Amino acid sequence: MAEEAPGLTIRVEGMMRRCFSFPMHAVKTTAGLSKAAAYAELNAQLVAVLSGETNGLANAANMAALLYQGLPDLNWAGFYFLVGGELVLGPFQGKVACVRIAVGRGVCGTAVQRRETVIVPDVHAFPGHIACDSASRSEIVVPLVKGGKLLGVLDLDSPNLARFDGEDAAGLETGVATLLSASDLSRLAD
Ligand code: SME
Repeated sequence: MAEEAPGLTIRVEGMMRRCFSFPMHAVKTTAGLSKAAAYAELNAQLVAVLSGETNGLANAANMAALLYQGLPDLNWAGFYFLVGGELVLGPFQGKVACVRIAVGRGVCGTAVQRRETVIVPDVHAFPGHIACDSASRSEIVVPLVKGGKLLGVLDLDSPNLARFDGEDAAGLETGVATLLSASDLSRLAD
């Protein structure tokens, strides 16, 4: 017992040191900024938050939190990863969501099939839309493609009609590029 205690102490101190060495990140508000300026601000924060960490799960989780807190009028922000030929739910912020989505199904599966960002101004008018939260009225899905390989998607939902446009697509695609270059996502997608 007496011999185990010092080892335990060192382990706990190590964990505390790692937590204390990570600076608390208060997401800066983007209120009042143009969309382009808001994404420039958020993407600069994303670079800072991901800096020094390559774990794909941790980085995707922090990116979902940053977007959900930093962007106005969202009710869901998160990831699905391509596992065994279908999309499987990853880190997110928002209500409990459907876990598996087939390629070609819903907005997420359509973005995978097309390998391009899909913007849906009115989800009720999108054939096959999968409703995880009845409050969702519009949606944007950005595919994650690294080295030509499709790894998953970033999905944002809004309770507002036509919340997303080309500026959102450009800003989110820049963020996704940052995530992909900073992170090892090989354990999340196959
Ligand atoms: N609406 C998506 C399903 C995922 S949830 O929005 C979180 C779709 O149609 O693919």
